Amino acid sequence: MKSITFRIKNCDSLFTVCIFAMNNHLNAMNALLQTAIDAAQKAGKVLKEGFGTDYTISSKSQIHDLVTEYDHKSEAIIIETIRSSFPNHQILTEESGHHASDGDIIWIIDPLDGTVNFAHGIPFFCVSIAAIQRSDILCGVIYSPMTEELFSAEKNGGAFLNGQSYKVTQQNSLLHSFLVTGFPYSVKENPLHCIEHFAHIVGMGIPIRRLGSAALDLAYVAVGRFDGFWEVALQPWDMAAGALLVKEAGGIVIDYSGNDLNVMQSSSIIAGNSNIVKALRNEIDSFNLTIPKR
Ligand code: IPD
Ligand code: CA
Ligand code: CA
Repeated sequence: MKSITFRIKNCDSLFTVCIFAMNNHLNAMNALLQTAIDAAQKAGKVLKEGFGTDYTISSKSQIHDLVTEYDHKSEAIIIETIRSSFPNHQILTEESGHHASDGDIIWIIDPLDGTVNFAHGIPFFCVSIAAIQRSDILCGVIYSPMTEELFSAEKNGGAFLNGQSYKVTQQNSLLHSFLVTGFPYSVKENPLHCIEHFAHIVGMGIPIRRLGSAALDLAYVAVGRFDGFWEVALQPWDMAAGALLVKEAGGIVIDYSGNDLNVMQSSSIIAGNSNIVKALRNEIDSFNLTIPKR
């Protein structure tokens, strides 16, 4: 009897240690998500105030790759918010690059996704923030300030829009689907034949939108507004938060080779429910076979 009591006691303490560790882990995850939400909403407020005002705009890699003073303002607010909670985390942003540190968590930030829309007075843009640890996306937040829509996800915690849980669609026919896509600033060079792929898929009679913010495109897929999304040459900040949202909403996110998307490198992407992703990849692959090798 004694030994049984001893074992039960040991079990109890092991159980307590496990629960304690789990709670710590959940609290840590929650702190990341809360910081991401706080940063996205603060930055989004500034973007909304700046939208339509007289601000400076300049070009980066080429004439249509724009940056406004609001990209920089938003980025500064996000970095400051993250730094004040997590001073030793690493940060990778679109406008100021890698802020190195010794922490193993890295924040991936697009302070204004949809800059071309913003610069032309089109109210379709967002802030995108994700926290990653050793290739695991721990949390992702996409905030659309003009519609005040907050898309959020934590690893294994589901996908949410303004606190309500969402899933990807169950559409299983590509011909009946509603899709969204985008083009890189280098579209003139036709990377990975993106122009022909677009022509091929639009030529199938499928309704397609090009809205101008890859992060919001992915968020819209996560909440079932679109059945699928594809694009080439996206950067980590365009897709990290959105990829987690789609996965947590029950979808899949792959690159054109069919591998799980690696959001830490520039990549092609296909996202949506698994039926649509597979069908889209088949179309892209079968179209590729028709391209004469040089
Ligand atoms: C761009 C947008 C656009 C996509 C481009 C991105 P930016 O990001 O997400 O929808 O087609 O590939 O570079 O410049 O607005 O942050
Ligand atoms: Ca972007
Ligand atoms: Ca941007």
